[in-house]
Amino acid sequence: MTSRAERVTKAVIPAAGLGTRFLPATKAIPKEMLPVVDRPAIQYVVEEAVAAGLDDVLMITGRNKRALEDHFDRHWELEQVLEAKGDRFRLDRLRRSTVLADVHYVRQGDPLGLGHAVLCAEKHVGDEAFAVLLGDDLIDARDELLARMLRVRAERGGSVVALLEVAPEQVHLYGCAAVLRTDEDDVVQVTGLVEKPDADQAPSNLAVIGRYVLDPAVFAALRRTSPGRGNEIQLTDALQSLAAGEQAGAGVWGVVFHGRRYDTGDRLDYLKAVVQLGVEHEEFGEDFHVWLREWVAAS
Ligand code: UTP
Repeated sequence: MTSRAERVTKAVIPAAGLGTRFLPATKAIPKEMLPVVDRPAIQYVVEEAVAAGLDDVLMITGRNKRALEDHFDRHWELEQVLEAKGDRFRLDRLRRSTVLADVHYVRQGDPLGLGHAVLCAEKHVGDEAFAVLLGDDLIDARDELLARMLRVRAERGGSVVALLEVAPEQVHLYGCAAVLRTDEDDVVQVTGLVEKPDADQAPSNLAVIGRYVLDPAVFAALRRTSPGRGNEIQLTDALQSLAAGEQAGAGVWGVVFHGRRYDTGDRLDYLKAVVQLGVEHEEFGEDFHVWLREWVAAS
């Protein structure tokens, strides 16, 4: 395994899932557009990519995803109205999503799984390492994860997944990793991956969460991957073949994350994200916190 001096610049954000856990809210809008306090979830994810130095963003979209494209595009009428009112504050907030990154789109057509969504990025990405950020997975901006994963890729080559310790009864909801320790506390070598195992079959309690830095070898691995669980092409299965393989670009590392993460595609986790980020909001967080404490005390 060679270390790479290349700079990763591209982020791929798969957002073509059906969002069935959040129906009916996600019947006409994608779950990535659900607001978390005052921004849609997807904007946090793009901001995270940009903060890690990745400002070439490719979104994999599907049916109902026009709202995503509109959100990152200019809105001339609103801009003119705010400009005429001299409302600079709201104008800046409105424009922020437009100037944030260079955003491109490709449609997935059929939602054949996360692995298939990543394969749709091949033309745009080419023969470069790239990051994948799931559009419904929020990592708190104060907890560094992606930048750490990019450093691990630069030092060790191969691909890098983000791992979170979860309770045994939660393991069946995630891809799960078999790992070996390395000389760094927060880095493990991934020797195997299983998608959504039963608790008694799970190789560890380390769950794969929605951040990846992938070697372009993943594309060939995905093409070799036949549909797995749920008849979908699983990214986990392609990564399993890279973890076990010896081919160029093989090797998978894991960064064990101890920070705050919210799955905004899950209704309970979504509510937790709104409350936690609401309490910390710079304009009204304090007022919200006071109200919340009083409400909890009274109920
Ligand atoms: P999920 O497993 O959360 O599936 O996808 P989902 O369909 O979006 O949501 P539920 O489970 O029905 O509520 C994980 C990530 O992979 C993307 C999703 O948008 C999400 O970011 N994805 C999934 C695709 O882009 N394409 C797919 O075919 C499947």
